[in-house]
Amino acid sequence: MVSLLVLNGPNLNLLGKREPGVYGSETLDDIILRLQGVTRELGAQMEHVQSNHEGVLIDAIHQAKGVHQGIVFNPGAFTHYSYALRDAIAAVSLPVIEVHISNVHAREPFRHHSVIAPVAVGQIVGLGSDGYEWAVRALVRKIEQQNRS
Ligand code: DQA
Repeated sequence: MVSLLVLNGPNLNLLGKREPGVYGSETLDDIILRLQGVTRELGAQMEHVQSNHEGVLIDAIHQAKGVHQGIVFNPGAFTHYSYALRDAIAAVSLPVIEVHISNVHAREPFRHHSVIAPVAVGQIVGLGSDGYEWAVRALVRKIEQQNRS
């Protein structure tokens, strides 16, 4: 059975309360409940980790190796400057889909650059919390295709 890690970085625990005009009114719990339904529907399973601490996110990426086959990752503001997270992804060589709820390219210039993108298989940006669902669907399909070949 395909198993995914859904990983959320800093401040995403505040979804629903945090800048709802930018990030919507759904809470992280609402989103995770929905993703659990989607993974079930796809015959897959998932684990969710959210942390405001870079080291905890790095540990979660390391621990995913051998347990999960891919990672759906919203690194929050770490996206724009965490070489340590980028190196962790490169080290485990698991497929990662980077998700951003907001359209980072339509926001402040510092949000336009991702240091994670070069080590991700793809990005889903600006589709609101639905982006997580599209990322889960795309990643499960990708892993199943790899397992068949
Ligand atoms: C975000 C975009 C980041 O720039 C920001 O720091 C976040 C959330 C998003 O999901 O749109 O915390 O990753």
